[in-house]
Amino acid sequence: EGNVPHIFVTLGASGDLATKKIYPTLWWLYRDGLLPSNTTFYGYARSKLTTEELRKKCHQYMKVKPEEEKRYEEFWKLNNYVAGSYNKRVDFEMLNQALNLHEKGTAANRLFYLALPPSVFENVTVLIKNACMGEKGWTRVIIEKPFGHDADSSLKLSNHLASLFKEEQLYRIDHYLGKEMVQNLMTLRFGNRIFSPTWNRECIASVLISFKEPFGTMGRGGYFDQSGIIRDVMQNHLMQILSLVAMEKPASVHPDDIRNEKVKVLRCISPLKLSDVILGQYEGNPEGEGDAKLGYLDDLTVPEGSNTATYALAVLTINNERWDGVPFILRCGKALNERKAEVRIQYRDVPGDIFSGKLKRNELVIRVQPGEALYIKMMTKTPGMTFEMEETELDLTYGSRYKEVKMPDAYERLILDVFCGSQMHFVRSDELSEAWRIFTPLLHQIEAEKVKPVPYIYGSRGPKEADEMCNKFDFKYYGSYKWVKNH
Ligand code: BG6
Repeated sequence: EGNVPHIFVTLGASGDLATKKIYPTLWWLYRDGLLPSNTTFYGYARSKLTTEELRKKCHQYMKVKPEEEKRYEEFWKLNNYVAGSYNKRVDFEMLNQALNLHEKGTAANRLFYLALPPSVFENVTVLIKNACMGEKGWTRVIIEKPFGHDADSSLKLSNHLASLFKEEQLYRIDHYLGKEMVQNLMTLRFGNRIFSPTWNRECIASVLISFKEPFGTMGRGGYFDQSGIIRDVMQNHLMQILSLVAMEKPASVHPDDIRNEKVKVLRCISPLKLSDVILGQYEGNPEGEGDAKLGYLDDLTVPEGSNTATYALAVLTINNERWDGVPFILRCGKALNERKAEVRIQYRDVPGDIFSGKLKRNELVIRVQPGEALYIKMMTKTPGMTFEMEETELDLTYGSRYKEVKMPDAYERLILDVFCGSQMHFVRSDELSEAWRIFTPLLHQIEAEKVKPVPYIYGSRGPKEADEMCNKFDFKYYGSYKWVKNH
């Protein structure tokens, strides 16, 4: 867009999300020359700060290399900060005047990133609409979860936003959509003749989508206790992955064609029932070290006796021709034995076995993190003077195959997408409401009946009930196979 000025405004600039994630992302994009050449940055928050003080707050997250110092100085020269309330129109008029100073020519575009608590969300969006819309180009608004608390509150928020902005102006972030392997699902599925004919109930026994973190809530319990792991991770991140794994082939790669298919497959899923779910909460491990000694309820920011789940496993079924009867198992938890996010497509047993039950099922594993990888578990004849057989893998580990490639952070891709106007990796309002439809009755029941989660030990694999549930739903865990990095 030539030399058109762009202004990126971070609302809630002094907060956690902004200093830890948004400012570092803006800096990396700027450093790598990926932003439009004439971009200015504004921070806005209630605290009276100077740009210098804001810079100090962000510093430890910016990862500046010695040779980048000069560029880093330039970045901060392009930054400004305005202090103001979240409920007074005059403050937003002041902000608008400040922004106008950078929009001398005939065209200019604005981006607003709302790194704000939900309590001020409605006010702030109204004030942006009334006092801060760009008059010489587009205005785009980036928002983050929580997008409501259940179906009703989410609908209310969506209606509120729809009364102010067009869907094309709204960018709802689910940062899992910015991850390399999540973005790769489209290419993998629809760009390979080898996978598409087997991607169905005829060949696939079950699909396991999991998210594990080796740490607890670490003082973030106040926020977490309000949401719990289902709202924090499952309803958004894991459901996004599920839609991309399960959807039909879109008419084209146009963002709306893709999002239409995502909505369509979600519409084939009935609301979850409590009997489809295992809930867990971590307890301290007396033999653990440091934080591992502490259970969820020992976090001082967590209310006493809280029943909030820090682990959840849920089994969904998709009532369509492709997936009828295939369990989709979603599993996520904090304070587990490892950090991992992956999709496991487990194929059915080979019919007509001639190998006396020695076969293990094929699995296609899509590892999102850490260390992007794609591998197929398969049987092979044990090499050498034998006719035995063993499990092995066809392995595409990015770290060894694509050594020189720099993987951008999810936020870098997504924020750049907003500059470019690409909504492919953002959540449309109807996707969101379908996801809430599936989870809301369950969440309400859990809260109304004060369902107690089962305890599991910090650093373990999670509750054993969850493993039993996987087994029951046709996901076989042999425990005999270990994927080894860098063969
Ligand atoms: C966030 C959740 O959306 O995702 C956090 O609120 C979670 O609880 C985080 O830790 C995980 O993101 P990532 O990119 O580290 O896997």
